Amino acid sequence: MATLIYSTIMSLDGYMEDGDGSFDWAAPDDEVHAFINDLERPVGTYLLGRRMYETMAYWETAGALSDQPPVGQDFAALWQAADKVVYSRTLQQVSSARTRIERDFDPAAVRQMVTRAQRDLAVGGPELAAQAFEAGLVDECHVFVVPIVVGGGKRSFPDEVRQSLELLDEHRFDGGVVYLRYRTRT
Ligand SMILES: NC(=O)c1ccc[n+]([C@@H]2O[C@H](COP(=O)([O-])OP(=O)(O)OC[C@H]3O[C@@H](n4cnc5c(N)ncnc54)[C@H](OP(=O)(O)O)[C@@H]3O)[C@@H](O)[C@H]2O)c1
Repeated sequence: MATLIYSTIMSLDGYMEDGDGSFDWAAPDDEVHAFINDLERPVGTYLLGRRMYETMAYWETAGALSDQPPVGQDFAALWQAADKVVYSRTLQQVSSARTRIERDFDPAAVRQMVTRAQRDLAVGGPELAAQAFEAGLVDECHVFVVPIVVGGGKRSFPDEVRQSLELLDEHRFDGGVVYLRYRTRT
């Protein structure tokens, strides 16, 4: 059966976007980006909140292929090859191929998608991911901790969810980022 993964790049104090709405400090260097690419390779479908989709849609553009270093080009190719489901009540049209809009997050439908999938799924955007956690759908968390404290902003993990985790892997990067891979425990 496929795995549903929540990946996040966050500050040490747990934010994926700071109080000014910026996440420049989370931009991966080439070493981290290459590692992320290898983690994303098995992902066949992205389930994305509308805001995360709007950020990630950059990777659909020609610029993502021509202006980027090799790690960026590799990621753009992975993004473009994957299916995307965008959750939004407002979005009228999508700006990427292999993409459909869902007007609501239906846990039963997502569970069925995971059960039937040949490849892994990733859920992105903390507001959407909170709903996947609440429904007990998240199998793994891939967390990149950036060596910075930002003091506030948008939290990577939902406030109202309690989840036991088992550490499966960890990795330290030269730039000070730490990767933690957890499996959720029931
Ligand atoms: N740290 C990093 O490396 C990093 C990387 C990329 C992006 N980001 C930032 O992270 C933020 C994304 O997180 P977020 O929590 O704000 O947003 P999100 O989860 O990506 O998207 C929230 C939106 O998803 C839609 N949505 C959520 N639940 C829904 C449901 N049940 N049914 C239908 N639609 C639903 C709604 O869209 P509508 O309003 O259209 O209905 C909602 O406004 C963005 O600001 C992004 O720029 C950070």
